[in-house]
Amino acid sequence: MKFTNTIFLLLACSASIYAQKTKPAKIKPRNEFVSELMAKMTIDEKIAQLVQFTADGTVTGPKGGDNFIDEIKKGNVGSILNATGVEYTRKLQKLNLDNSRLKIPLLFGYDVIHGYRTIFPITLGETASWDLDIAKRSSEVAAAEAAASGVHWTFAPMVDIARDPRWGRVSEGAGEDTYLGSKMAFARVKGFQGEDLMATNTILACTKHFAAYGAAEAGRDYNTVDMSERVLRETYLPPFKATVDAGVATFMTSFNEIAGVPATGSKFLLRDILKGEWKFNGFVVTDYTAINELIPHGFAKDSANAGELSLKAGVDMDMVGGIYLKNLKKLLNQGKVTQAQIDDACRRILEAKYDLGLFHDPYLYNDEKREKSTIYKKEFLDAALYAANKSMVLLKNNGTLPLRKEQKIAFVGPLVGDDWNIIGSWAATGDRTGYATSIQEAVNKMITEKGKVTFDKGVEIVDARKDMMQKALDNARNSDVIVAVMGEFENMTGEAASRTNIDLPGIQKEFLAELKKLGKPIVLVLMNGRPLTLSWENDNMDAILEVWYPGTMGGEAVAQTLYGINNPSGKLPMTFPRSVGQVPIYYNHKNTGRPYLGAKDPEQKYKSRYIDSDNSPLYPFGYGLSYTKFEYSNLKLSSNTLNANGKLKISVDVANTGNYDGEEVVQFYVKDVVGSVTRPVKELKGFKKLLLKKGTKQTVEFEISSDDLRFYNIDMKFVAEPGDFEVFVGGSSATGLNDKFVLVM
Ligand code: GLC
Repeated sequence: MKFTNTIFLLLACSASIYAQKTKPAKIKPRNEFVSELMAKMTIDEKIAQLVQFTADGTVTGPKGGDNFIDEIKKGNVGSILNATGVEYTRKLQKLNLDNSRLKIPLLFGYDVIHGYRTIFPITLGETASWDLDIAKRSSEVAAAEAAASGVHWTFAPMVDIARDPRWGRVSEGAGEDTYLGSKMAFARVKGFQGEDLMATNTILACTKHFAAYGAAEAGRDYNTVDMSERVLRETYLPPFKATVDAGVATFMTSFNEIAGVPATGSKFLLRDILKGEWKFNGFVVTDYTAINELIPHGFAKDSANAGELSLKAGVDMDMVGGIYLKNLKKLLNQGKVTQAQIDDACRRILEAKYDLGLFHDPYLYNDEKREKSTIYKKEFLDAALYAANKSMVLLKNNGTLPLRKEQKIAFVGPLVGDDWNIIGSWAATGDRTGYATSIQEAVNKMITEKGKVTFDKGVEIVDARKDMMQKALDNARNSDVIVAVMGEFENMTGEAASRTNIDLPGIQKEFLAELKKLGKPIVLVLMNGRPLTLSWENDNMDAILEVWYPGTMGGEAVAQTLYGINNPSGKLPMTFPRSVGQVPIYYNHKNTGRPYLGAKDPEQKYKSRYIDSDNSPLYPFGYGLSYTKFEYSNLKLSSNTLNANGKLKISVDVANTGNYDGEEVVQFYVKDVVGSVTRPVKELKGFKKLLLKKGTKQTVEFEISSDDLRFYNIDMKFVAEPGDFEVFVGGSSATGLNDKFVLVM
């Protein structure tokens, strides 16, 4: 017994020594340390902190900055983006410290959006899980792998509300709803940053793109944004504010202008709202060369003017543009910017470096052993599989799904064997050389009986070649069920990937029509990064499963879902239109003075409608089916009157009346019937995801107060107004039970 204890104690000691080894050294408290450091810094050394250059590799715009190695040697750089890996970042850090008189460490930033090496579903897909724990966990895993690889800072979460699926970057965000987007944004910041930024498994987060980048006219990336301050504050800003409430360390400005002022030069956004009203005390980095872009915007007359306008507006760090480096000292000498403005920016950046522990130990995140033992941990891969399963959205099913192992299945389509696109865009260091399991590989592992499954591409995603189609049709003809895995290339979504036509690209739909002629049940599996227009598919397929880009473990998740091991529980975070002509289309729209009531409307002509389409979307926000059935009943309000300082309880019974255990996202919406300004037909105010065993029923409760009913009234005051309200509770934004209450103030 004694011997065992000794061994245990020795092990415990060695572990603690190891832990202490990575514990940063003790130095002075932050304010004291930073103030003393700044007192020693020259103006050049201060300006260098405001400068970020990109290492070789990923560039997401005009190649910015001079040779970054030379700039580091000259002590001109405070941060580098796109450098990853313990060895490489240590090399650059050493080069920097060897040339830094005051030994000020570099800050390494990188786009870790939905995973660093273990890749989770794209953010739009993960949001379809409506599971905040998944959002937090995926960010924790991303941070752990990134921090273990020498990365200090991620340019995430992207929190842009988006109502236009032509815009490729809808894939990176949380969709169209402000309430859901705000909850997801908060969870993701908490996941990335944890409770201790000096821990070696947490990193700085960066809320982007501030602001309203998702409202680009015509869904064309980088295009003009123009909206009322009320819409800006009510729809687009709350997810950003949620990240400030979560303690986010940094913000990134957006490329777009809003009402004539580019965000990167907007004092209103950066100093009045972000650093003023919201009291944000982190630092603001621009998007890639966004300061330079003030010139083509027609907002700055030259690069010096662009630098002056940006610093005055509240931009602290220049991403890749080289403008702060080239111009700030001259602007200071000319009296066009102040020492205080430079000092404030510099302090904010130095404080972030302090909070990470970089002054305690500049190599705190450079530990080869930790890097090796952290990447692809089994618990991380398991988390990615879990997230992928929960993000699947079943859009249609006439009973064809789930598949049975004894059936003969013809798997076809350009993405059935894919292990490249499956991890989506912005996949950081995700492995595209075959580490991710394709759907084909996963099904082959699951269905081992010979002759039960066949796999044929049939067509390409975009290329119109037809030479592979016949073989696919022949195999399909001899099957019981056809599963067609189709969608978009990953680079057809994400940045600089707007589409005017959001149908399935290429001849995929033509191939589906040929398959349809065989008279077999067809399951369409969609791998895509945006809502697509699927009216023909909805009319002609027997089942449709939206899998997004499901990540490293996505192949397994799709196989498990198709064969019923996972019962899909996702709900759409963004509306799927009938046609692109309806865009922008979203659930929380206004009623107008001539609302069209559909076929039952006695007035069919002079109403807000189209003559060639119904107003309704193909699949609404919050929609998603299950292999089981859920029934709602017994909607009850604790009262039909809500007092200004009171609370109202709403309860509903949800029963699983089908043949499978399943999860349902119970959604709670409110309508403010009359306001001093017009109000949306409904707004999401709560949701709960619950597991219901088959044959069971649960009562789900929500609670609201007048605070939940506030909006920017006619005087732009953020208040609730007395009057009539309606509540809707159901499994999507388009269905459910409803009741009424009155708010009395
Ligand atoms: C890109 C993107 C931004 C990204 C940055 C750094 O242009 O707009 O989301 O974080 O550059 O890669």
